[in-house]
Amino acid sequence: GVGGAAAFATISHLPGVRAAAAGSTLPPAPVVPAGVLHEIDLVAAVQSGKSIAGAAVDAPFWLYNDELFPTFRVKLGDKIRAKLQNKLPEHTSIHWHGIRLPNAMDGVQYITQPPVEPGESFTYEFTPPDTGTFFFHSHCNGVSQIGHGLAGLLIVEGDELEPFDAEHTLAMKDWRLSPEGEWLPFFTTEGAGRAGTFGTVRTVNGSAAYNADVPAGADIRVRIFNLDPTRMVDVGLDGADGFVIATDGNAIEPIPLHTWRLGAAMRVDLHIRVPKSGSVFRVLDYFSATPWPLATFSATGEDLPERPLVAHSLYAPHVPRAEPEAAEHVKFQFSAASGAAASIAQNFSPDDPLAKELLDSLCVGSRGMWAINKQQWPTGDHRNLPPPLAELTPGRNYVFELMNATPHPHPIHLHGHTFEVLSASRQKLPRFLADTVVVQPKERIEIAFVAAEGNWMFHCHILEHQENGMMGWLRIA
Ligand code: C2O
Ligand code: CU
Repeated sequence: GVGGAAAFATISHLPGVRAAAAGSTLPPAPVVPAGVLHEIDLVAAVQSGKSIAGAAVDAPFWLYNDELFPTFRVKLGDKIRAKLQNKLPEHTSIHWHGIRLPNAMDGVQYITQPPVEPGESFTYEFTPPDTGTFFFHSHCNGVSQIGHGLAGLLIVEGDELEPFDAEHTLAMKDWRLSPEGEWLPFFTTEGAGRAGTFGTVRTVNGSAAYNADVPAGADIRVRIFNLDPTRMVDVGLDGADGFVIATDGNAIEPIPLHTWRLGAAMRVDLHIRVPKSGSVFRVLDYFSATPWPLATFSATGEDLPERPLVAHSLYAPHVPRAEPEAAEHVKFQFSAASGAAASIAQNFSPDDPLAKELLDSLCVGSRGMWAINKQQWPTGDHRNLPPPLAELTPGRNYVFELMNATPHPHPIHLHGHTFEVLSASRQKLPRFLADTVVVQPKERIEIAFVAAEGNWMFHCHILEHQENGMMGWLRIA
């Protein structure tokens, strides 16, 4: 996809008038009574006999509970006790992406917990402090483990002032499969040194096409997850009007949807007004050269009475509000590493046999291709902890300046925090809340947040970038 600078929804900013902080004008959420306990069993195991995009696949999947993206719904205030049992042939852990939880529950081996070895188990226990559209995934050897399917969805309900007439979840992921249904290598040096290695089979909820009937004239909510480790999508609508109502699960002032960019791991919630009975509308990815349908909806039944189209706002998020004026600024530069692998990947064409030979001659662990502030994560493992990228103070306000010095976009993720995107130098964006943000080539993005205690990972969510150097951690103590 060409993509370039996407045309985002036009936000009317009067010159000199500062846009309100994301979500700050939404109605406050009512006080939640203490919720219930959800005991969840998650058995990670190798499973075969699955079908993807309608075709039987012989290659073994690695799944939780033998399901593609098992989905859990809880209410704000509910507690989760999730027992991970590892029946895989290698160690694993679960990261609860986007959830502001105690550091010890964050699921990063060697940093927040020991890796869960084959045959062992680990119990995660936390009460999500925010409503929203979240997911969880393995945080060990992710290129392979997530490539094989180890992810699931977690929805925390309780943000709706008025219920929607229907809700759909769309979990997008590509798979690296040969035409014979065998796994292709998840990691390629060519891909890892560039935009990442793309899958060969595109799916939504494991299907080649997602089709559903929706009530004519209704107001529906669609939660969209980009679970792909590589692909960017520009979510848009054809044949209906809609609004972006939440970004990475966090309520924002609704924005009329033109397109909304999702890098790896990002989510968006839409409110869509279903058109008249008999019509068909689609959620499309406009980043692809040819727009690709994430979903095709058919409006059925009696038309609901006509009424003005007003965005359904959600309740204000619970995320602590950072004061950018009072914040300490910290700069991060995302760049190619200066090592041998990086220079080979940058200087040879992907199919040059000499490049392959040179790369293969490098011993494992020296394949670092990417860096943050010139530091590279030392090996594919977490055992040799590098020094933290920054040391912060809990409770303090920070503005991170993220600068991308590479020719590729990077979806940058901070664990354990929800930040506000304040400004972006090469995209027209409103202020919004996120846990992952796409930094375009040569772009400078500012994010603000209140630091929470713990050791938190900070990395690109293109998993081949993460595992080849573009990863670090923050010590907040
Ligand atoms: Cu969703 Cu460290 O990742
Ligand atoms: Cu990246």
